Amino acid sequence: MSMRKHTVLAFAGMAMLVALQPVVAADKATVKMGKDLFKQNCEVCHQADAIGKPGFAPSLTNPELLAAASDKFLLSTIRDGRQGTGMPPFKHLGRKKIKAMVTYLRSHTSLPNKSAAVDAQPRAHGDPRLGKIWFDQICSTCHGVKGDGYDAGGTGTAIGTAGFLNKATDGFIRTTIEEGRSNTRMLGFRGPAAMAALSDREIDDIIVYMRTLAKQ
Ligand code: HEC
Ligand code: HEC
Repeated sequence: MSMRKHTVLAFAGMAMLVALQPVVAADKATVKMGKDLFKQNCEVCHQADAIGKPGFAPSLTNPELLAAASDKFLLSTIRDGRQGTGMPPFKHLGRKKIKAMVTYLRSHTSLPNKSAAVDAQPRAHGDPRLGKIWFDQICSTCHGVKGDGYDAGGTGTAIGTAGFLNKATDGFIRTTIEEGRSNTRMLGFRGPAAMAALSDREIDDIIVYMRTLAKQ
């Protein structure tokens, strides 16, 4: 390659760096702001680096949650909290600060966000009576018979409450049941590491049953 070509390329590279820098810098500042806010408001329960603590507060940085959860799910859960659980609402912080914390949480993962595809999955159709049998047998051990979560004495979150069910799409629930959440007690129900292998139909039966829990 000629000297001249090198120089041109170097210039092009420098121009691109200059153009990119403000965006990167702004993002870094947001992550820093989100990290500070997280330390002040959330770390007492969700622990350093948001790794969670079994039976106390869930992990917010495991790759499966961050890949499947939309910004809408995270922002609105933080804003509204989950009534009837230890997760308080943070509406008073305002949207900008809540967004910064989501940016901070997202800085922990390298997996692409697939929430749009997850949320676009078809709704679950199935038999709630069959779903109840699975739920009582398998899920209730950790999540409680009514999905009350930690209040029921287990390590699973309150998946039978309106605070969770009104924000989670069937696709999000299905994906979580299939994949589980690494480094937590929520193992997936698919593949070799599964707690128990559930078919598509069985998973849908469980989701349809879960949807009846919030109304009870
Ligand atoms: C007093 C303890 C406490 C504090 C403080 C707290 N949380 Fe939580 N958080 C919880 C608990 C407990 C849950 C699980 C609730 C359940 O059982 O469904 C939770 C759930 C969540 C979830 C849903 C996770 C999932 O797996 O779906 C998000 C997101 C979240 N918290 C973010 C935050 C953020 C951000 C802050 C700080 C602004 C915060 N929390 C502060 C206790 C807390
Ligand atoms: C061995 C305990 C255990 C069993 C059994 C279990 N879970 Fe979980 N589940 C968990 C834990 C723990 C979490 C939250 C992960 C964390 O603490 O970070 C969770 C999270 C979830 C979530 C996400 C909830 C949220 O707050 O975002 C769903 C949905 C879920 N489980 C559904 C199920 C279903 C349905 C079953 C039965 C087929 C089941 N789980 C069985 C422990 C369990």
